[in-house]
Order: sequence, then C-alpha cells, then structure tokens
Amino acid sequence: PDTLSRTNFNLIIKNGSRNFYSGYTTNTMGVNEDILGPTLILRKGDIVTLNVKNTLSDTTTIHWHGMHVAPENDGGPHTFILPGSTWSPHFTVLDNASTYWYHPHLHKKTAEHVTKGIAGFIIVRDEEEAKIILPRKYGVDDFPIVIQSRAFDASKQFIVRSELDSVILVNGTKNPYLQVPAQIVRLRLLNGSTERTYNFGLTGNKSFYQIGGDGGLLNAPISRTRLRLAPGERAEILIDFSSLQGQSIYLMSYASELQAGIIGSSSVGMGNSLPDYSNNKLNGANFNILKFDIIAPTQNPITTIPSVLISNSPFSISSVNATRILIFSSISGMMNVSGPFVINGTPFKIDKINYSIPLNNTEIWELRNQTPIAHPFHIHDVQFYLLDRNGTQVPLNERGRKDVVLVESMETVRFITKFQDFSNPTVPYMFHCHLLTHEDDGMMGQFIVT
Ligand code: C2O
Ligand code: CU
Ligand code: CU
Repeated sequence: PDTLSRTNFNLIIKNGSRNFYSGYTTNTMGVNEDILGPTLILRKGDIVTLNVKNTLSDTTTIHWHGMHVAPENDGGPHTFILPGSTWSPHFTVLDNASTYWYHPHLHKKTAEHVTKGIAGFIIVRDEEEAKIILPRKYGVDDFPIVIQSRAFDASKQFIVRSELDSVILVNGTKNPYLQVPAQIVRLRLLNGSTERTYNFGLTGNKSFYQIGGDGGLLNAPISRTRLRLAPGERAEILIDFSSLQGQSIYLMSYASELQAGIIGSSSVGMGNSLPDYSNNKLNGANFNILKFDIIAPTQNPITTIPSVLISNSPFSISSVNATRILIFSSISGMMNVSGPFVINGTPFKIDKINYSIPLNNTEIWELRNQTPIAHPFHIHDVQFYLLDRNGTQVPLNERGRKDVVLVESMETVRFITKFQDFSNPTVPYMFHCHLLTHEDDGMMGQFIVT
C-alpha cells in the first residue's frame, strides 16, 4: 500500500483478486487496492475528510480503530455505507502519535469483510514524537507490518471463520520478506488477524526494543525478546540490524510458549476443557512470520536508541465517577470453549444501549473473564490505562495508552479512562471482543455519551 500524507482522502472499497497460489485466483476485497488499503498518514490537529466509497454489492462500514472521534464519524455498525454510496466523515485529528488502523464493522459481517482483505494502517504524527530521535522514514527505516493468518479452501479461496488458519500473510503477502537496512529500524506491528494471538520474537532470541503500544509511545524503550500481541493490538518496536548486513533473520511467533487458551482460534472444542488445537500446524509449534534480508545502511541512519520517550500521565483514581463490571461468559456453560460468548449475560442487540455515560466521566472498567479462553477486549472513543491484572502490577510494556487488552482465562483486568469531547444521544460507541467471530456472534455492547 502507498502513502498518502494529506488531509483529503478518497478511499474506494472494492472487490479484487490475488494469485497466492500459481494457477489459482483468490477473490479478495480491498481499499483502492486488491487487498488491504493505503496507509493514512495524519498529523495531530489536522482537519481531515475521508471519502469512503463502497463499490461492493454488500453493505459495509469503516471504523477508525483507536482514534478519538465523534460517534457519527467512528464508523461503527450503525453507520452503514450502502452499496454504491459514499460516506464522508470530517473531523479533527486529536490522537497522539501512534499506529492506528481502519477496518469494516458491520454487525455479523466484520470477520468476513476483514478476512477478505479490507483493512489499512493509520499513522498519526505529532510534535512530541517529532522531537524524539527515532526512525520515521516511511518504507525506508519505518515499516507498517500487519500480520494476518488465513485458511484457504481447495479452490484457494479464503475461508471465513475457520479454525484451520495455516498461512500467514504479512501486508497481504504470502511467504513475505522485507529488505531492511543494517541500522536501527522501526516496525509498527499490527495483529490484524481475526482470532490468532502471536508471541513475537526474532531468530535466536535476538532482543529488540518496544517503544509504543496501541495509542502512543511508552515512557521509555523496553528491551525484550518476546512480545505478545492479540487481535487488534499494535506495538512499535526498534530492531538494531547494524551488525547483520548480508544476513537474514526472521520475525517469528514463539507459539509453543503460549497457553492453549490463548493461541489461535477458539472455535474448536474437543474434550471437556481446552480446545484441541493439534490439527492446526500454527498451534503449539514456533513458526516464521517475516524474513528480513539485511542490506546496506542508508545515508545518515539513526544510530541510537533513545533513553526516554514521552511522559504518560494516567487518569487519577481520585477523579473516578463510576466503576463498571463486565463479566465475560459463555451462554452454553462455564467450560464451553466454542461460544457464543457474551458480556454480562446477554448477546449484543443493535437497539439496546448498555451504558449511558455522562460526558467527562472518569471511569474504572473491571473486566472479569469467566471462560476457559482469553479474549482481547476493545473499546471505541477512548484510550485507557491499565490499573492491574488480577490485582497485580501490569507489565511495563502495557503502561502506555491502550485500546485493546487481552484478558486471560479467569483473569480480572481493570482500566481507567475518561469519556470526553464527544457526546451524542443517538449514535452509540461499541465495546467488544476483538476476536472477530466472537464480536459477530454478539460479544459486544454499546454506550452513548450524554
Ligand atoms: Cu477494531 Cu470495534 O474495532
Ligand atoms: Cu475500534
Ligand atoms: Cu472473545
């Protein structure tokens, strides 16, 4: 996908095709492209217009995941783009520099439209980030990397809602490789898979630095060898390739280290407790995701890892106006692994508002997962700060702004956030599990800010 750095964008949702296997044509969907779409590079403070034309024969929506926009501009399941029509949201970019993304959000069709290929990156830049010495030459030392697993049928079409995902696509490409210069390189990782969680690492456990999470930079880079990323989550990392010119290494998933309730799809249930993942070759075993071929460095490469980044200031507990408890359960019994899963006992209803939240409320949301598998919880409108996981401190790399959090089986996670700037009594925002089959099956709710 190409780069468009301006304030007016024309996005055309269309059908396409790709030849992933020789002799076969796979039907796809994309935005201006056969699969995926252009990266939108926005600056905080800019006023942007996005003209989104739907040329499919299906209704869809486009949601700006992670961005703080008014509900009527958010592209949730109430904001249809009918076949042949154009939706033109117009808003000021209020977000901090980070990596966001866009994807469809039509109720019961999200998994299908994302699996067929509709999604793209949004990069927001701001003045605070611009002051830090970091790689930011798009496609040179700063790369968007979306990882999506797919299942193909015998005629090499994408299977929607399959637990047998066996092929990893990176930026829509099978058997992907990337030429990177022998210097410090920034990757903006997005788990755009419908169900699979990755446990990223590099060949030989080479270390890297995480600098950002979903909604902004961390306080300081964190050196690590593993990074777990659930569907919907993003992470920015720096990798120092400077001593590796002429060599190749891989971005991998050390999947063997993940618990059964976290890996992969959750829609297969065998036995009486955890899913049987043994028929999926991506489960249980480590696998390669993206090959890096390390080439000559660029002119004036970035040569240092910054020691500090930004200063995150979480909302203060003393300002909390309300606490909400959200219980994740299965409607067909506690140990059921195949769902459907629900929040607070009832599946999503498009005409039911679950919460009405006063504008400027600061709230704690307590997520209690009473199921045998992990669920990545996502909320629209806001970024949040995690308070604790099962009452204990959250890991350093989860202390920045976030909009998705993976809640493990039987875990309780609390976050704090503030609902500000936008209210609309008629158009709700959504909260849901970002496993798209769970979302489509009703593990979702909605709130209005009034
Ligand atoms: Cu990424 Cu409500 O979605
Ligand atoms: Cu979202
Ligand atoms: Cu879920």
